[in-house]
Amino acid sequence: MRRKIVVGNWKMNNTIAESETLAAEVLAALGDNFSGCEVGIAPTFLALESAGRIIEGSEVQLVAQNCHYENDGAYTGEVSARMLNAAGCSSVIIGHSERRQYFGETNATVNLRIKKALSEALNVIFCVGETLAERESGVTGSIISSQVREGLEGISDISAIVIAYEPVWAIGTGKTASSAQAEEVHLLIRTLITELYGDAAAQALRIQYGGSVKPSNAAELFAMPNIDGGLIGGASLNAADFAAIVKAASH
Ligand code: PGA
Repeated sequence: MRRKIVVGNWKMNNTIAESETLAAEVLAALGDNFSGCEVGIAPTFLALESAGRIIEGSEVQLVAQNCHYENDGAYTGEVSARMLNAAGCSSVIIGHSERRQYFGETNATVNLRIKKALSEALNVIFCVGETLAERESGVTGSIISSQVREGLEGISDISAIVIAYEPVWAIGTGKTASSAQAEEVHLLIRTLITELYGDAAAQALRIQYGGSVKPSNAAELFAMPNIDGGLIGGASLNAADFAAIVKAASH
């Protein structure tokens, strides 16, 4: 049985003080109610330390939204995996579609970042997903396959990786993939992982769904056999909604 995993991706929201408040609200809203589900929050780099202090000692994990593929050096504006580890992060999101869309992230740089994060003992949430144009032209399967293959190139052990399937057309748009649409792609990813890493690794791999997950649709999505939790954007900024989504994954 795969343990479900729900992570709140706060994106570029909240000051340090607001992040502390939200982290405390999340803890209060979750209570002790989430056994059976792994939970994380991903504040901005700036708020990692302070939000991390709030959740310290709880089961909630500290997650970063990105990392660079070098340890340090002349990379203005970037933060390295080594720094995230030292700041108390247990995981990092890599290859989010907003990074790919607005910041020039490619499958090749995603691959470098994943390798560096793993080498710094961070768990990785590796995001893949097709755009609306790609879905409409019938290339979803081949886009996802190349993102997975190229993102994992040269990586022999995927036990510290979670894949997040996030159709770009469903992110922040209010349009959720139907549970059947999501399940179809999750199954495709698991089948591909079986081909690349064998059955045991594929069965152990957690595949999160992301894209307009909310309390009203979470339970149906999480009931699908290959959906192992969610990467939550907008709804994670409200502690009650986020806790309701975690609860849906805890059943
Ligand atoms: P959303 O974002 O829940 O606001 O659609 C999900 C994500 O981008 O991780």
